[in-house]
Amino acid sequence: MKVVKKIISIKYFIIISCMCIGFSNTGCKYDKPVLTTTCDTAIVTYSGTIKPILTAHCTVCHSGPNAPNGNGILLDDYVFVKRQVPQPLLDAINHTGNVTPMPKDATKLDACSIAKITKWIAEGAKSN
Ligand code: HEC
Repeated sequence: MKVVKKIISIKYFIIISCMCIGFSNTGCKYDKPVLTTTCDTAIVTYSGTIKPILTAHCTVCHSGPNAPNGNGILLDDYVFVKRQVPQPLLDAINHTGNVTPMPKDATKLDACSIAKITKWIAEGAKSN
């Protein structure tokens, strides 16, 4: 009889413990929105990373029909991009050296995009 009581009380103890853990997880907690300031440069490829950045910020002046806007310099194909690597591309996006800062007359690329381009070039600017 004593043993049975003990088992029951252990059972309740476990149930109450579980409830407490459950409540503490779902209780009235205010979850602050997490600011995502991370920059994932683990895998950087021409097609998946570099081309989308150039398309978003550069090809308005540096692609076929728009080439006159970009002094004839093309950045809409790997072969053309490769000609600007590492320089003057790195100076242009970092606003260093004697080249015109790019994108021309616009704000500098975000630090994460610059980090990705830099890494892609450091890894050999591959056509991947
Ligand atoms: C509004 C048009 C415009 C945009 C957008 C633009 N460029 Fe340019 N880019 C130019 C012009 C014009 C030149 C020729 C240099 C000059 O006349 O200042 C140039 C030159 C360059 C050069 C050669 C620099 C040199 O002096 O040899 C590179 C590299 C370059 N751009 C890269 C980029 C990249 C990368 C982007 C996007 C991040 C970009 N450009 C966005 C207009 C633009």
